[in-house]
Amino acid sequence: MSTSPKFWNKAAAGYAKRPIDNIESYEHTLSRTRSYLNSGQRVLEIGCGTGSTALLLAHEVEHFTAADYSSEMINIGIEKAQNQGVTNLEFLNADVFDDRLVTGGYDVVMAHNLLHLLENIPQTIARVSELLKPEGVFISKTPCIADRMAYMMPLIAVMRWIGKAPYVDSLKSAHLESMIEDENFEIVEASSFSQKAISRYIVAKKKH
Ligand SMILES: C[S@@+](CC[C@H](N)C(=O)[O-])C[C@H]1O[C@@H](n2cnc3c(N)ncnc32)[C@H](O)[C@@H]1O
Repeated sequence: MSTSPKFWNKAAAGYAKRPIDNIESYEHTLSRTRSYLNSGQRVLEIGCGTGSTALLLAHEVEHFTAADYSSEMINIGIEKAQNQGVTNLEFLNADVFDDRLVTGGYDVVMAHNLLHLLENIPQTIARVSELLKPEGVFISKTPCIADRMAYMMPLIAVMRWIGKAPYVDSLKSAHLESMIEDENFEIVEASSFSQKAISRYIVAKKKH
């Protein structure tokens, strides 16, 4: 069964305080991502958490919508945006299938640390394709645990059983890339920050 937003509502305050795991890798992701952004774009981030990445990137684009199905994550994001005076960033308590998201309305859709948490990855990617303009860009960074940490899965299963971990897919990066290609995307960039890193950074362009 999919993880309910309640899990993330409980985690939100702690998540907001947690330092970034690998700052070098994060900076690299931001820098690669900035290279796809410009001041005329409308951008959507799904599973935005407390909006840390959205707050760093919103000033690069015309309008940024940051969506998450956890109301607590969104509340923290709204407060941070108000404190920082970021005005072109709109937070939405919504999952990717929410009707308030605009079909064909976005130049870029981002999903960071989200896809591995979903039980409906192909449907989510298909919805991302629907939300993008033609030739729009889908940017994601996703832990692909089966690449080199499959041994963690039994531990994650136990943690999940006691309510301390969400559902996590045992993804391989090659499989994730093929799922993205299957939904009318061409991969334009795919990399892991280092040999040890399990997160896969993937940029894919929507075909006509
Ligand atoms: C690991 S956190 C990542 C947050 C942020 N993107 C980051 O990189 O720090 C996962 C986020 O995805 C959200 N999430 C999980 N499943 C979701 C779904 N089906 N729809 C929307 N958000 C979801 C959670 O509420 C949580 O905020």
